[in-house]
Amino acid sequence: TETHMPKDKGLDHTLKLLDEGYRFVTNRSDKFESRVFETRLLGEKTICMVGEKEAELFYDNAKFSRKDASPGRIQKTLFGEGGVQGLDGADHHHRKAMFMSLMTEERLNEISAIIREEWEQEMKRNSKEEIQVYQTAKYVLTKSALRWTGVPYEQEDIPEWADQLSDMFEDAGAVGWSHWQARQSRSKAEERITGLVERVRENTAEEVRKDSAVYHFAMHRDVNEELLDASVVAVELLNLLRPIVAIAVYIDFVLLAVHDYPEEAVKLETEEDLHRFIQEVRRFYPFFPVAPARVKADFTWGEYTFKEGTLTLLDLYGTNHDPAIWEEPDRFQPERFQGWKESPFNFIPQGGGEFDIGHRCAGEWMTMDVLKTTLDFFVNHLSFTFIEQDLDYEMNEIPPVPESGVIIEGVQSK
Ligand code: HEM
Repeated sequence: TETHMPKDKGLDHTLKLLDEGYRFVTNRSDKFESRVFETRLLGEKTICMVGEKEAELFYDNAKFSRKDASPGRIQKTLFGEGGVQGLDGADHHHRKAMFMSLMTEERLNEISAIIREEWEQEMKRNSKEEIQVYQTAKYVLTKSALRWTGVPYEQEDIPEWADQLSDMFEDAGAVGWSHWQARQSRSKAEERITGLVERVRENTAEEVRKDSAVYHFAMHRDVNEELLDASVVAVELLNLLRPIVAIAVYIDFVLLAVHDYPEEAVKLETEEDLHRFIQEVRRFYPFFPVAPARVKADFTWGEYTFKEGTLTLLDLYGTNHDPAIWEEPDRFQPERFQGWKESPFNFIPQGGGEFDIGHRCAGEWMTMDVLKTTLDFFVNHLSFTFIEQDLDYEMNEIPPVPESGVIIEGVQSK
């Protein structure tokens, strides 16, 4: 006999999702005493899941597919169309390898060095003023991302690049004007990069290095040995540039944690200390709320039936705050990572499962390295103070950076 999962009463819960934000899934899984339940979002029957075993199920490629999993409005802003996020099977595996081949120790060391250099320059330029960490980080990361990927740029164009790239993740879920602006920014950036890709292929872009991501992606061949559409290459290059700039959100949270937990911030000497601190930042603060997929074919799991085609969301934030995995999940406690046993499914701020054959974030190692380099630079090589400011953030905004961003002053090198 078929059994049914608990079901949210009512016609549609989109407004509740907008209101409850990162707590939407766990509010209901607590109420229903079930890690899996059914609701309706944007007029569509939707299964929500939270937890380690549930993450393992969600990342089973035999059971879930990514085709048509993200809403069209998110594709037109955040992800772009035709990119790696929506691929399955061999197509995905092959495209993902194009990304993962950039994530070598050498290339990761290179971006850390670039980041360090750009922060130093930026702080020299600005040291007499108040520094808004989020805005400044976006600038530093934009320049670093263009350098690292090999996209040619003029110094005076960096603020425009920074605005375009951040519109795509700051306003992805927005409605009205902001959504429109995010779409405009994506179209403009895609157009610019598509032109560049065409020039690389015509061999007229001498400024593009042969060992750059731009060159590598432009010349990449798909499973059928064909070049990708130039516009798809642009989407994939933006899948590097955009999220590198989005690390600014975590950098703002790193500084917020230094502000809110000064007793932890004085302990940051060794590589291990830095590692535990940034891991706790990625666990503790909200950022990417859920990963979406669709049921591939009917199956049952325990007592629940999953029907082909059903949209299914895995709660990333909730899993990182799951009391079944984390002791006192709402305390900021970097020490919890000492001797801690990570599985592919129990710590998933950037998705779970495998990198190569699953959809786990291609940039997770890079994110960690950039955060470590930045944290080390701020706490061990600079002195500064925080201005008096309101640092509350909202649990229903994406990204949930404090209104003004963290602001510091009196910056000097130590
Ligand atoms: C996928 C989060 C940084 C590139 C993802 C996913 C999440 C995520 C949640 C989807 C996982 C899933 O669907 O199961 C984040 C967060 C970041 C970050 C919170 C912090 C800023 C980066 C960086 C890069 C990157 C720096 C590249 C340099 C990608 C790509 C995918 C992805 C290419 C698609 C992977 C696939 O579909 O196979 N990320 N990410 N991300 N991320 Fe990140």
